[in-house]
Amino acid sequence: MTGVFYGVGVGPGDPELLTVKAVKVIGAADVIIAPQTEKKEDSTALTIAKPFLKKDVAVVKMVFPMVFNREALSEAWEDNKNTILELLAAGKNVIFLTLGDPMFYSTYIYIFQLLKNCGYPIETVPGVPAFCAIGSRLGYPLAEGDDILTIIPATIPEEKMDQVLAMTDNVVLMKVYKNYQQVVAKLKRHGLADHAVMISRCGLSDEQIVRDLKNIGEQPINYLSTILARRNKA
Ligand SMILES: C[S@@+](CC[C@H](N)C(=O)[O-])C[C@H]1O[C@@H](n2cnc3c(N)ncnc32)[C@H](O)[C@@H]1O
Repeated sequence: MTGVFYGVGVGPGDPELLTVKAVKVIGAADVIIAPQTEKKEDSTALTIAKPFLKKDVAVVKMVFPMVFNREALSEAWEDNKNTILELLAAGKNVIFLTLGDPMFYSTYIYIFQLLKNCGYPIETVPGVPAFCAIGSRLGYPLAEGDDILTIIPATIPEEKMDQVLAMTDNVVLMKVYKNYQQVVAKLKRHGLADHAVMISRCGLSDEQIVRDLKNIGEQPINYLSTILARRNKA
């Protein structure tokens, strides 16, 4: 019998936010794949899932270089794919851990596309997306009534961001680490700055909440940072 490939969302940080299904699947796994950044920092998803791992489970750390072009996945991706296929052929249940939800701005989406026609069963287990956990953590309603909520990766072109910020009521800004100062200036320009708040590493031991976005100084912004903002209501 061949194995099953599972993509499992572990939520953004607090291990108590894993679903019952995620805990069950992780606890029964033969092999856990923990994605790592190119800088080979520890896998945050693995840290979150740690309390639920079987004692003797094999943990394979894999580096997935950033994907800029879906057509041109690098050799490293092919090697990772082949390693996973060998494990599945050997009958192992393989879990790919992913922060937040697997189908929401996640490396898992690329893995899923790579593996979906390879003949092995795939099951995706949803997780709590970071922005939802952040709304609850901060007591910050994300959308109510007829509000339009927009989710923006701050890595998009400026012009596009301006168009969206001009029309939305509420906004979730993700990946703000690269151009934080520009993003804060844009929120002000579009009348979205008064209630803006940023949280870094929500639910992790070194979580940080910033309510005065203007006065953060020159410190680098952590990759796991999200800004919530909303327009003043009339
Ligand atoms: C590649 S996306 C991953 C999104 C994830 N799949 C989800 O469902 O939330 C990375 C972005 O998610 C947000 N993020 C993920 N975890 C976070 C956390 N613990 N605290 C704050 N923001 C987080 C940040 O905006 C970060 O730049």
